[in-house]
Amino acid sequence: MLKRIYDWTDERTGLVSMAEEEMHKPLPPGVGWPFSLGSAILFLVIVQFVTGFTLATLYAPTPDHAYASIQYLERNVPYGRIVRGLHHWTASVVVIVMFLHLLRTLIYGAYKRPREMTWMFGVGLFFVMLGFAFTGYLLPWDQKSYWGTVVGTEIAASVPLVGEYVLRLMRGSNDVGALTLSRFYAVHVMLLPWLLIGLLSGHLFLVRKLGTAGPWAEHQGENARPNPFYPNQVFKDMVVAVGIGAFVLYMAIQVGAPLEPVANPAATDYIPRPEWYFLSLYQLLKYLPGRLEVVGTFILPTLGGIALFFLPFLDRSPERHPLKRPWVVGIAGVTTLGIAILTAVAMFTNPKQPGAETPVADPTMTGPVTAAADPVRGKKLYEDFACGSCHVISGQGNAVGPELTHVGSQRDAAYLKKKTINPKFDNPESIMPPTQAPPKDIDDLVAYMESLK
Ligand code: HEC
Repeated sequence: MLKRIYDWTDERTGLVSMAEEEMHKPLPPGVGWPFSLGSAILFLVIVQFVTGFTLATLYAPTPDHAYASIQYLERNVPYGRIVRGLHHWTASVVVIVMFLHLLRTLIYGAYKRPREMTWMFGVGLFFVMLGFAFTGYLLPWDQKSYWGTVVGTEIAASVPLVGEYVLRLMRGSNDVGALTLSRFYAVHVMLLPWLLIGLLSGHLFLVRKLGTAGPWAEHQGENARPNPFYPNQVFKDMVVAVGIGAFVLYMAIQVGAPLEPVANPAATDYIPRPEWYFLSLYQLLKYLPGRLEVVGTFILPTLGGIALFFLPFLDRSPERHPLKRPWVVGIAGVTTLGIAILTAVAMFTNPKQPGAETPVADPTMTGPVTAAADPVRGKKLYEDFACGSCHVISGQGNAVGPELTHVGSQRDAAYLKKKTINPKFDNPESIMPPTQAPPKDIDDLVAYMESLK
């Protein structure tokens, strides 16, 4: 039966035998693990389409409802937290895998004639991916995304001549607001996906048409065993994709996606931080004095982007061995190292949000609960600590202790904090166990209870 469907389709389209032929095409000997990153990216892109679509069915792209819709998704929609976590973590992982894929291609000199266009499509895809990251960052409309976008769009304003115009084009008005959100959303779900599909089709078509460039040195003689795409390479591709998929799923379940308090345009003391893939640039800006800032915000990234895009025309010799192309490989190495160091420095010098100095959790502690506390994480901690074995929230749990469904409107944060750390403080007979946890955990737990109005 299956065979008849195959034959029927093949007779009319020729697709089946074409696919089969592709599957069994021999690859150059020496193609192996480093070549599996491309299909891993394809896999991650599919994950993003599926999770992105699912998120879009619930998300409301207006300042009044965006945050609430995400909160609702996190708290009340079954698996909502995981779907959002998957989208969040895949976005980060895909940037890393794309970078490695690009680096691999560069080291192998695979962008050289006749593969210049494959390379250019690929670099285009990399920029599209960064565009996804930048526009997606704003959508949850929490403090982090709001202030990150304020700064991100300000960077665009530093472009000579057209800067102010670009700023207004992105924001839709003078400030980041409702118009910015709908613009970013439209770009994120309408424009970029189509660009992605277009560039990806071009890229894949050329990869298939030209075949892989293979390793730089021909493996000859004894080493030259036949290396068909299926099953050899397909197996390696699957292992890598499944491995990355498992990591992303683990992070989505264990950590989830962050959600800070709702965006507050009046909170000008908030210290904005971009997402990690823009951190290196952000760190670089700190070393540049005011007048030279444009070097970091505009000149370097633009020149770098152009050089990357036109690399096949800058390095035209047919030589592919990395050690015989010291300039290209050297510059790539230094740049990669520079980005890695700047990112690491920025990560470890994480400035504290004002008021974020969390006091040590001792039983007498009465310190304020910080604004940076994360109720979503708190909800998870509530589950981890099995508070539900004695408390009911919205019908869930055991009624040994009082119901906590509306505890946020009955008790203030200071009380909740004291009670969680030392239940005996107001009731020496309390049977509730004291909670021993790092201050951040206590704060998040309290933030969660505070949110139960
Ligand atoms: C062994 C059962 C038990 C567990 C587990 C437990 N509690 Fe309680 N909790 C109680 C009881 C009983 C009371 C009410 C009597 C009292 O004040 O001690 C209470 C009171 C509270 C109150 C005060 C409610 C109010 O408005 O009066 C809060 C808040 C609270 N618990 C939070 C938590 C949190 C958070 C956890 C998990 C870290 C937790 N509880 C775990 C039994 C428990």
